[in-house]
Parts: sequence; C-alpha cells; structure tokens
Amino acid sequence: MMAATVQISNVNENPSSRRIFIIGAGIVGASLAYFLSREQPNRKVIVIDKCWDELLGSTGHAPGFVGQLNESSVLTNLAKDTVSEYLKVPGGFNVVGGLELSSTDSGVETLYRRRDLALAAGLHAEILSPGDAASLAPDFIDAASVKNGLHFSSDGTANAQTITSYYIQQAQLKGAKLVEATVTGFDLKNGEITVIQSLAGDIKTHGSTVVLATGIWTSSLASDVPSPVPIVPVAHPYTFTPPRPYRSGAPYPFIRWLDHHAYARDHGDRDGMGSYDHPPLRLDAGQTAIGPWSSEFETVLSKASSHLKNGKEFLMNGSGNDRNKYKPFNGIFSVTPDNLPFAGKVSGVSNLWLCAAIWVTTAAGTAKFITREILRDGDHATPEDEELRKALSPFRFQGMETYTLESQALARYNDIYNREV
Ligand SMILES: Cc1cc2nc3c(=O)[nH]c(=O)nc-3n(C[C@H](O)[C@H](O)[C@H](O)COP(=O)(O)OP(=O)(O)OC[C@H]3O[C@@H](n4cnc5c(N)ncnc54)[C@H](O)[C@@H]3O)c2cc1C
Ligand SMILES: *[C@@H]1O[C@H](CO)[C@@H](O)[C@H](O)[C@H]1NC(C)=O
Ligand SMILES: *[C@@H]1O[C@H](CO)[C@@H](O)[C@H](O)[C@H]1NC(C)=O
Repeated sequence: MMAATVQISNVNENPSSRRIFIIGAGIVGASLAYFLSREQPNRKVIVIDKCWDELLGSTGHAPGFVGQLNESSVLTNLAKDTVSEYLKVPGGFNVVGGLELSSTDSGVETLYRRRDLALAAGLHAEILSPGDAASLAPDFIDAASVKNGLHFSSDGTANAQTITSYYIQQAQLKGAKLVEATVTGFDLKNGEITVIQSLAGDIKTHGSTVVLATGIWTSSLASDVPSPVPIVPVAHPYTFTPPRPYRSGAPYPFIRWLDHHAYARDHGDRDGMGSYDHPPLRLDAGQTAIGPWSSEFETVLSKASSHLKNGKEFLMNGSGNDRNKYKPFNGIFSVTPDNLPFAGKVSGVSNLWLCAAIWVTTAAGTAKFITREILRDGDHATPEDEELRKALSPFRFQGMETYTLESQALARYNDIYNREV
C-alpha cells in the first residue's frame, strides 16, 4: 500500500532540532503527519511504522462508525471537528446516519436524554417510532422488538483505511518522510529522548519532538513516562454475513441496540455486527491488532444476532488467528479509565508527546489539537484548548495506582453510554 521513503542512516545524517518523529501510522499517526506537515512546513515530519504494506493496528479493522454525540462534551467537539475533516477526504466518509434503538423504558429515557444533549450540541437528532426506525434498515430491525429509535442524520461511517492512506500521501507531498522500523525503546539523557531504539537501528532525536501514536501498543512503549499510562488493550468480537448483492434504496444507517450492547452496519456487499455484551477481556497485543479467537465469542455473537432480524445470516465461529477479512475476528482496541484519549506532552520527559487511545471518531480533531499544541510549545492556549489540555493530559492520573486504573478502564468497556457517571 505504502513504502518507506528514507533509511535510518539518512535520517541520522541530517540532524535538526526542527524534526518531529511520529511513531505509528494508523489513523492517528497519519492525521498527525497530515496536519503537522501542513501547519508547520518548516519542521520536518518523519513517520515511523513497523510496517508500511498494510495496517497492522486497530485502524485496519474498525467498522468505522462515527457517532458524534458522546456523553463527554470534549469528545463530542472533537468528533464534530473530525467529521468536518473526513468529509474533505475523497471517499473518506459516508453520511449514512446513526440509529440507536431501545426496547426498555429506561433505554427510551436514555434516548430522550441523548436527543436533548445532541440538540444542545448542535447535532441533528430525532426520536423515531418503531415503524419509522425499522423502515431505515428493514433487514436488521424488527419493529415489534423496539420501543423507540433515535436517529442522528449527520453521523456515518468513516473509511478509516482510505483516510489513513490519503493523509500519509498528502503529508508526503508536504515533505514528510516514512521510515520502516520496529521501535523497541528509547535512550534518555537529561530527561530528553536522544535516541529511538529500533530493530533497524538507533534513530537520533536530540532536540527533536517525539510523538507516540502507537494505539494499543502505547503503554508498553511508554515505560519511561513517570506517571501511569493506563491505556488498556481489550478484545472485541466482530463478524460478517457471507457476501450478498448490494441493497438498493437509501443506505442503511449504522445501528446500535442500546439494551443489548450490540451494533450492526451494512458494508455494501455484506453486513457486519459486533458486540460488547461480555466481560471485558484484557489482551496484550502481539504483532497485530487481531487477537486469538475464543469460542466464548461464538456465544456472545449468537446472542447479539438474536436481536437482528437477519441475525441468522451472520457467521458465528472462527478459528485460530484468522486474518481473513470476512470471518469472525477478535479485534483489539484500547480503553482508558475515563474513556478519554491520552493526548499531550508528557511530564518528566521534555520532548515526548502521547497521542493514543483515540477512536477513528475523534482522530483528526485530536491530531489538529496536538498540532496546535506543538506549534505553541507550552504557550497560552484558547479557553477551548485549555479545556482539552486538561481533559486529555497524559499525566492526569499521576499518583494513582496502576491496578485501580486498569480495572476502571476495563469497566468502561461495556459502558459506552457512561451510565455509571
Ligand atoms: C473491532 C474494532 C471495532 C472498532 N470500532 C470502531 C468504531 O466503530 N468507531 C471508531 O471510531 N473506532 C472503532 N474502533 C477503534 C479504532 O479502530 C481505533 O481506536 C483507532 O483505529 C486507533 O488508531 P491508532 O492510529 O491510534 O492505532 P493503530 O491503528 O493501532 O495504529 C498504531 C500503529 O502503530 C504501529 N506501531 C505500534 N507499535 C510500534 C512499534 N513498536 N514500532 C513501530 N510501529 C509501531 C502499528 O504498526 C500501527 O500501524 C474499533 C476497533 C476495533 C479493533
Ligand atoms: C461454524 O458454523 C457453521 C454453521 O454456521 C458450521 O457449519 C461449521 O461446522 C462451524 N465450524 C466450526 C469450526 O465450528
Ligand atoms: C464515547 O467515546 C468513547 C471513547 O472514544 C467510546 O468508547 C464510547 O463508545 C463513546 N460513547 C458513545 C455513546 O458513542
């Protein structure tokens, strides 16, 4: 898909304090490369990834739902900004809408509350009757099984892989360089990262800025950071129907069943479905963001499928480390104790920034924020950015126990509507 454009020896021969090293080229690293090289043309951007042929991280597997309304207003604002950017990427975003369904009284209350929140945030949102909801996705929804729907017409699906390659290509046009190397650690001198160690050799970084955009791999790479980095990788099952002819008519919105922790989307030539309805499962990532298939996920997916009208069409079982695109798979992404990303400058290491635990939904907006932060280098920010600085600060959990933070993060897995708060 992409190829490295520069060797480490070349990078080391041209040291400059103006350089920004981005480690990780998923949608987050790609967004950063795009905005940094556009806004800071006098600073050389160098993107390092262990692989340029394919997306080995979470970005390569995300079904790409972008629901802009979050219970956190910080995330809602970042998501709105992100959508405004993805809409400018050719083939990057489909405004198919998002539809939340509930079959219980308390769920319907949540829908009304979210409708009000959405309107206050300037997002279009409308409560639908069961019949109207079902008519938006008749193969998925049985009107008799829902009480109400909540339709967000400006939501949609991001083509995360298309956006990622587009951003990398545009960054290259502005002079960004790509290095292929697996980063293994850092040399620190006087509180500064002076060397990025990699399997392909040492990369000199004295005077440069280093940003970790390594998704689920971030906490193991951030061991030099003095405050806890509870970015916890978790397993998540997703599956497909076998291929079928494209549907005619209006595209289906992305559907979420509030009471069942399940969701589904139309992928064009097949449908996809995922479920959060299982105990959170911590999983340290290997080379890729695909974990081993667990037979328990078959039960989880079968249960989720029982809420879909065409549920029987989905494939429930998988085997081994199946990387085949259309079989059920265990995808890994990150959770944090407060559901918020880690985005900002690290304390205790003078040139290290984190940009991780970020969803496709908020990647571009967060990368724009970090670009502004790197540009102003600690100077006074706008009130909006001061709020982001606080909320996303990589040292906001300073002094807290790692164990406690990790269990808080895991508890977030099944609680996407922040009902505990
Ligand atoms: C099944 C599934 C469903 C999801 N559904 C959604 C959804 O509907 N909506 C949504 O918004 N989000 C969703 N997500 C989450 C979303 O995919 C991720 O949050 C997002 O893609 C993270 O992007 P990233 O760039 O931070 O990480 P990644 O895409 O994981 O990229 C990290 C990069 O860092 C590189 N890297 C890591 N370690 C090293 C190293 N040591 N040396 C060199 N390179 C390294 C990797 O090769 C990789 O390319 C889902 C994820 C999964 C798995
Ligand atoms: C998977 O499920 C299908 C039916 O959906 C069945 O035919 C097949 O034998 C199952 N495979 C495994 C490995 O369980
Ligand atoms: C809010 O954002 C967090 C972090 O990206 C995510 O885990 C959660 O699912 C979102 N909530 C909703 C209701 O979309």
